[in-house]
Amino acid sequence: MTIIVTGGAGFIGSNFVFHMLNKYPDYRIICLDSLTYAGNLSTLAPVMDNPCFRFVKASITDREAVFKLFEEEKPDMVVNFAAESHVDRSIENPGIFLETNIMGTQIMMDACRKYGITRYHQVSTDEVYGDLPLDRPDLFFTEETPIHTSSPYSASKASADLLVLAYYRTYGLPVTISRCSNNYGPYHFPEKLIPLMIANALNDKPLPVYGTGENVRDWLYVEDHCKAIDLIIHKGRTGEVYNIGGHNEMANIDIVKIICKELNKPESLITYVTDRKGHDMRYAIDPAKIHNELGWLPETRFADGIKKTIKWYLENREWWETIISGEYQNYYEKMYGNR
Ligand code: NAD
Ligand code: DAU
Repeated sequence: MTIIVTGGAGFIGSNFVFHMLNKYPDYRIICLDSLTYAGNLSTLAPVMDNPCFRFVKASITDREAVFKLFEEEKPDMVVNFAAESHVDRSIENPGIFLETNIMGTQIMMDACRKYGITRYHQVSTDEVYGDLPLDRPDLFFTEETPIHTSSPYSASKASADLLVLAYYRTYGLPVTISRCSNNYGPYHFPEKLIPLMIANALNDKPLPVYGTGENVRDWLYVEDHCKAIDLIIHKGRTGEVYNIGGHNEMANIDIVKIICKELNKPESLITYVTDRKGHDMRYAIDPAKIHNELGWLPETRFADGIKKTIKWYLENREWWETIISGEYQNYYEKMYGNR
């Protein structure tokens, strides 16, 4: 079995590469990644010498490079993680989101059509459903919830999903789609809430909470997401969408307070800043379908996962300190300098 994993130098993709190489020692895993600001080759250092692993630096938007790779490797499956993934960046600069997330998806599927594969899996997001109100805790996203996007990021992911389903219906491409809630864990890029707060707290810097901090996200430990995708690509039904989430809703402010407590830092570091434009209020996944059909259940409780994550950031300071010492400083100044 040969699997192309796009975006495997990013947060979830790298965790998926590690999971697959560990669990299936006879599989060949090819990571296709263009190494944008969010991709990090040092993350993949532990597997670079593994004979079952190959890294290829190219963009999923580069048709020639993608087709050449398919010609060489004749993959059985593709799991498409590659994307521009940060909502705040999409608000500043939507164009690259459309290029990578939509056009890149098309090119990967065109290659699948030409060379033939047994499965194309699209890693999507719960953000395609828009948001839920805070005063209706009885409501959850199911696979039937209408697409109702808020940000250029979520609109680009939803567009890609529609294209994937069109390739299934029109060309019979054997596709699956997963829509997961917020992930956390090792190798999470420090522009995102949890690693940003950990890094800032460790540096005794202000902890910038958007708006009132009441917005709710449904957190899932990254390994649980990887295990769900592993199940879907092997046992999921083609043409189907599977929601992934572990019923772990938390308000942003509570997450930040937990991080302060774990790191023994004062809550006085918390600073309320101007809200994100179009900020989604609440995400909450109903994972009944993947549970009933494929037997998936999350294994890591948030109380344990957040401790493991904080420990990882304490033990791997070099990984994130290298990131935040470079170009990231300009990004941080632009996004938070005058907020
Ligand atoms: P990330 O930003 O950490 O990593 C993205 C990776 O894709 C990077 O390695 C980057 O170099 C690569 N990439 C970007 N553009 C590329 C291109 N044109 N060609 C090849 N590679 C390219 O993202 P992440 O948080 O790991 O998210 C991975 C996927 O999971 C995305 O599709 C995202 O929409 C989805 N998702 C993320 C979450 C979450 O909480 N992080 C939740 C649900 C779904
Ligand atoms: O739900 C899945 C999505 O989760 C994925 O599709 C996205 O790729 C991923 O980035 C994530 O999107 P969010 O916008 O929910 O994640 P983020 O970490 O950017 O923000 C989480 C919440 O924290 C959100 O309500 C905004 C808030 N926030 C974020 C940052 C970076 C702050 O209050 N302060 C911050 O500095």
